[in-house]
Amino acid sequence: MFDSGVLIEACQEALKEKAPSLAAKEVLERLMGGQLGSEPFGPVEAGGLTAIHRSDDLTILHVVWAPNMSLYPHDHRMWAVIGVYGGQEDNTFYKRRSAGVGLEMVNGKSLGEKDVVVLGDQVIHSVTNPRRAYTAAIHVYGGDFFATSRSEWASPEAPEQPYSVEGAMKAFADANERAKELLREDA
Ligand SMILES: [Fe+2]
Repeated sequence: MFDSGVLIEACQEALKEKAPSLAAKEVLERLMGGQLGSEPFGPVEAGGLTAIHRSDDLTILHVVWAPNMSLYPHDHRMWAVIGVYGGQEDNTFYKRRSAGVGLEMVNGKSLGEKDVVVLGDQVIHSVTNPRRAYTAAIHVYGGDFFATSRSEWASPEAPEQPYSVEGAMKAFADANERAKELLREDA
């Protein structure tokens, strides 16, 4: 049985290290390797974000991407560590255009099961679950993910605007509706 308290405690210890994001990466690698208990969570049946822990200096989220879901570009303004424990999460990274509005693509990285990556505090990314199945991950952030003001872009061509938690929740709700149809087609 997975004990989220063990994960929280290990991440809190990571914050005391000289390089907290790298220490948090090691924690998620241990989690993915089964060294912090068994499978983090049971079967997932809906996309969404669930806070496992939230404080001023640390947020731990259980993130489930709905089948074929995409989340528009956004930044975090704090380091993040992403560990995928089921499915696939494709990240596209951007930078602000030097002139005009919007973003230009820098590169991309596809994360599969048991992949763990660190994202720096300046990173701007969009995320896609390319599979017709749920993708499940643990995200660790070096700050209060919900209270920090940051930016989003409705598309790479769109102007920068304040990130909206409600907007992200709606993206998950819409993706869950579409997922029901996709999974019905596949049944
Ligand atoms: Fe993100």
